[in-house]
Amino acid sequence: MKILLLNGPNLNLLGKREPNVYGKNTLKTLYQRFSELEKEYNVEVVSFQSNHEGELIDKLHETSDGNFLGVIFNPGAFTHYSYAIRDAIASIDVPVIEVHISNVHNREEFRRESVISPVTAGQIVGLGLFGYELALKALVEYIGKGE
Ligand code: DQA
Repeated sequence: MKILLLNGPNLNLLGKREPNVYGKNTLKTLYQRFSELEKEYNVEVVSFQSNHEGELIDKLHETSDGNFLGVIFNPGAFTHYSYAIRDAIASIDVPVIEVHISNVHNREEFRRESVISPVTAGQIVGLGLFGYELALKALVEYIGKGE
């Protein structure tokens, strides 16, 4: 089975971007960790990052081929206002777990709202890159077993 690891705008700058908020690890570090997890969990991880809303939506649509167990998705700032991304998540039949590296609840007020949460399977916030790993575990060990 495949898992889509999807990252939205500005996450290509991880490691350089506000390291006090997002840490010093890069997206490459995350991908390296996921290549270890692929073996451990016997899944294929398809990784994609884009700064463009439509490209993220196209990737979500591609999960409808029946081969995806789920999506791990950090939509960046789109989380807070993109109804188009929310509708894309609602349109596909694979579970999407929302991940935020930072604790969006102890930052600016506008980050507290997620317009996508009502259509995601769950949300992990504030645990750094480890949150992505927890999402993978949840997809394989919990959701994938029919819970
Ligand atoms: C983020 C939180 C968002 O508010 C922000 O716009 C991001 C990253 C996070 O991972 O903490 O780009 O999704």
